[in-house]
Amino acid sequence: MKMIKQQIGHTPQHKRGTVGDDVLVVGGGGREHAIVKALERSPRVGTIYAAPGNAGMGVVQTGIGATDIEKIVEYVKANGNIKLTVVAPDDPLAMGLVDRLTELGFKAFGPKKAAAKLEWSKAYAKDFMKKYGIPTADYAAFTDAQCAKDYVNSLDYNVVVKADGLALGKGVIICNDKAEACAAIDEIMTDKKFGEAGNSLVVERFITGYEVSLLAFVDGEHYSLMPTACDHKRALDGDEGLNTGGMGAYSPCPAFTRELLARTEETVVKPTVRGMKAEGAPFTGVLYFGLMVDGDDVRVLEYNARFGDPETQSVLPLLQSDLYEIFLATVDGTLDKLDVKWSDKKSINVVLASGGYPLAYEKGKLISGLDRVDGADVYFAGVMESDGMLVTNGGRVLCVQAMADDFAAAKKTVYDNIEKIKFDGCFYRRDIGKKL
Ligand code: GLY
Repeated sequence: MKMIKQQIGHTPQHKRGTVGDDVLVVGGGGREHAIVKALERSPRVGTIYAAPGNAGMGVVQTGIGATDIEKIVEYVKANGNIKLTVVAPDDPLAMGLVDRLTELGFKAFGPKKAAAKLEWSKAYAKDFMKKYGIPTADYAAFTDAQCAKDYVNSLDYNVVVKADGLALGKGVIICNDKAEACAAIDEIMTDKKFGEAGNSLVVERFITGYEVSLLAFVDGEHYSLMPTACDHKRALDGDEGLNTGGMGAYSPCPAFTRELLARTEETVVKPTVRGMKAEGAPFTGVLYFGLMVDGDDVRVLEYNARFGDPETQSVLPLLQSDLYEIFLATVDGTLDKLDVKWSDKKSINVVLASGGYPLAYEKGKLISGLDRVDGADVYFAGVMESDGMLVTNGGRVLCVQAMADDFAAAKKTVYDNIEKIKFDGCFYRRDIGKKL
């Protein structure tokens, strides 16, 4: 730890051991690091544990994986001062971790399995939107490949084919013609490229516009919106290259005006929150609306049942209120009693990735220059400790984030600091926020 401290220029360890409620954060990427950093600002939080966390986060790493549901439950049972478990990734939510902890009387932040279905079943989400009149692209859902192909061949527009289940963000295939769509159907349903996630699929009309991520804390009944954000999913500049988990983000999204936001609250946010309650699956946690905006037309592309990555690394630094209190109010159903405050600064983050990502890449590369970072924050994702030093351990290694009164200044700070950070094979997009 001493060497990592020298490597990054400060201790990554937070005020461990101080009086306060302990919190367990499930997950180990940049998003979880952003959650940890925001929780560290709460005077009410004591030790922060993570399952599994990463060596750059400065938390107590439990050695438990994010999907080791029973081990997580046992850990919470055995550590009486853990007053809240924050479940950040999609898989443990879909596996019912929040249900298990809640049944046992522990507080857990995140939706129960039935509500997380908005993310873990694309067909469920589309049927839900149709039922509650929430604007989305035309679609049909299938459990038979030939029926799906017949449907595609009957259409006079391009489609997107989506595996129904969770597929590490890779189960959405944009198709340029009918042949590509039929090939995508075979990949998903016949070849089972995404395993069980492809037992059924959705064929959706391809719609155009720009994408906006709108996230909200939801306590089952009330909601509190976060500033909007824009993700950059392609690996290379100019939105070229393969789809990734996200190469950078900024917040807020200036093109998405107050008027659009107000309308989206009425047409999308409120009907979703009310609808899930009416379905007997009230949503509690972070609800992520992936929106497609074309002029005044706003449609839901997808729901996620969690914070986005890398949007969170730009959004949460803008939070001026106590994240721990927001989490508790969300779990307790008292969000309406909180006045959640956000900075009106502009925030931007850029991901530094391992050469080859999102395909094969090497690991174990020493990361240098972190101690020279100044005026920006670093959120660690694919890193681990090796011989006392931080080395790369994943595709998305870390991101650099800064905020300022305007985007130009925030962007300059981020890119100036990125120049200082080195590891073999490092690449990053140089055009995050260029459209601003
Ligand atoms: N940034 C997209 C996601 O978190 O799924």
